[in-house]
Amino acid sequence: MMKEQLEVIRQHALEAIAGTQATAELESVRVQYLGKKGELTAVLKQMGKLSPEERPIMGQKANEVRAELESAIETQSVILAEKAMAEKLKAEALDVTIPGKTVPQGHKHPMTMALDEIKDIFVGMGFTVLDGPEVELATYNFDRLNAEEGHPSRDWSDTFYFDEDSRVMLRSQTSPMQVRAMESMDLPIRIIAPGRVYRKDEVDATHSPMFHQIEGMVIDKGVTMSDLKGTLNTVIEQIYGKGTVTRFRPHHFPFTEPSCEMDIQCHKCGGKGCPTCKGEGWIEVLGAGMIHPDVLRMSGIDPEVYSGWAFGMGLERLAMGRFKIADLRLIFENDIRFLEQF
Ligand code: DAH
Repeated sequence: MMKEQLEVIRQHALEAIAGTQATAELESVRVQYLGKKGELTAVLKQMGKLSPEERPIMGQKANEVRAELESAIETQSVILAEKAMAEKLKAEALDVTIPGKTVPQGHKHPMTMALDEIKDIFVGMGFTVLDGPEVELATYNFDRLNAEEGHPSRDWSDTFYFDEDSRVMLRSQTSPMQVRAMESMDLPIRIIAPGRVYRKDEVDATHSPMFHQIEGMVIDKGVTMSDLKGTLNTVIEQIYGKGTVTRFRPHHFPFTEPSCEMDIQCHKCGGKGCPTCKGEGWIEVLGAGMIHPDVLRMSGIDPEVYSGWAFGMGLERLAMGRFKIADLRLIFENDIRFLEQF
């Protein structure tokens, strides 16, 4: 009776083991037959009911069945592991012949390109490039540049101040770098200083509360207005191309005397007048002049011995001309469709 039971268990278990498809399934079959509450174990627990003669015979048979099942499980587990590995390898197969994904690569912003070009030109002429603070003292931004208390550009409606008594501000121009250079450098001085400047402007096609300027300054013995004109014309021709027409108009700045503004003929209409140049045929690109003797004196330079010129140009304007961009806002919006064109 018990022998038949063992035989049935053996057959069923071997079939079940051979039929398993995965390691977890094999484990549950093992538990079902060989576990503490398994079928084979249950039969063994009945051994006590057998006669002393039968007991060793059945004991031996039961052990044989157990050994056979264990070895079948062992064999099946190797088969299943190999199968699992084969499936894993198949699923993870790498096709090294598939073309790679191209990573889109950007390039410099047109403003950076324009600035790099200008820096190269000036460095080639022996100028040093300076960097300075955007949070500036009104002393450097105004007082030391001859823009005394009451000058319209010092008004709260024009300038971003940090304190009630208007001493600390976001620089409204790169010109304070003139003073910083005079303070810290030995003569003769030949510098440019590009950077961000801030004014309380509304945004339109040609205005933004933050924009970029490049300051330039030369101080040496015997420097004249014709050096200024010659240098600027050379630079402009390198940026806009040979034969670019410029003009100098008289103007007023507190820190230069005489002062002027430089215009270039409109790149869009060639001087006829169009929306880009507001119908004038000319586009103003910079302010300049001979450094006021008082400005030199305030920084400890003797105007009887030294003279100098300075200019401040708008980088956005320049980039707009250089790349024929019609609206300033495009430069700041960073729309990829726009930037990709450069
Ligand atoms: N700082 C002036 C401005 O923002 C521009 C300027 C004019 C700079 C004349 C100069 C200069 O260095 O000499 O409008």
